[in-house]
Amino acid sequence: MVNQELINNAIEIRERAYVPYSKFKVGAALLTKSGKVYTGCNIENAAYPVSLCAERVAIFKAISEGETEFVELAVVADTERPVPPCGSCRQVMSEFFESEMNIHLTNLNNNTITVKMDELLPFSFQKSDMEK
Ligand code: THU
Repeated sequence: MVNQELINNAIEIRERAYVPYSKFKVGAALLTKSGKVYTGCNIENAAYPVSLCAERVAIFKAISEGETEFVELAVVADTERPVPPCGSCRQVMSEFFESEMNIHLTNLNNNTITVKMDELLPFSFQKSDMEK
């Protein structure tokens, strides 16, 4: 089920995006099992690769506050289709999200799809892969 309140949090934080180069604003909102919401927007830099996506800002904010258990994530951008997260964000998500966790991808026209972590990045590299 779509969490409209969480999507609204993502829409709101999207306005804080610092995007002088791409002009492409993204917002993300992450709900923790403890009931808190951590939001993030994309933050760009004149040295382009240093920029950080909205999803990772939200996740890193939560992790840095000691949160480790998450319920769902919402991501929004002004796209034709629901915004697909980049590969780097998918890898970061897979580090912290359970494979069944719901991720709501949407746009400003409210076209939303909900995918599970495992659908977004199947067969992902995990820390357990280094434990042999
Ligand atoms: N971006 C995000 O913040 N999240 C995504 O899911 C896709 C891309 C950002 C990175 C950059 O600031 C801008 O969008 C254009 O790539």
